[in-house]
Amino acid sequence: MLQALLNIVSNATRYASKQIRIYVGINKEQIEITISDDGAGIPADVLPYLFHRFVKGTDGDTGLGLAISRAIVERCGGLISAGNGEREGAVVSLSFPAVIGTQ
Ligand SMILES: Nc1ncnc2c1ncn2[C@@H]1O[C@H](COP(=O)(O)OP(=O)(O)OP(=O)(O)O)[C@@H](O)[C@H]1O
Ligand SMILES: [Mg+2]
Repeated sequence: MLQALLNIVSNATRYASKQIRIYVGINKEQIEITISDDGAGIPADVLPYLFHRFVKGTDGDTGLGLAISRAIVERCGGLISAGNGEREGAVVSLSFPAVIGTQ
């Protein structure tokens, strides 16, 4: 799970203008984490395929980070989604059971 988070946060550090916000909360036995930044946001042509392997945009690297993050989160019984904020930047949200393996 640390690897999943590192992939998302390292993207945010690449694209943020000045600020990255990391929210962590717990809701109905689900841990919710949201990472948002104040950059230009995820390009519209990349967004539908964001979690596919080798999909990358301008200044992207190998296009594997978010595919790996999704695989990790789903293996933990969680969900991951991404979009853009109302005013600016990317927003990546994940949620997973607070207790893994006893579902
Ligand atoms: N916070 C973000 N702001 C804007 N675009 C983003 C952000 N995070 C991801 N993206 C876009 O999504 C693409 C895919 O991201 P992903 O992490 O899967 O691959 P990568 O960063 O290009 O390479 P890798 O993570 O394998 O080094 C990026 O190339 C970029 O275009
Ligand atoms: Mg990446």
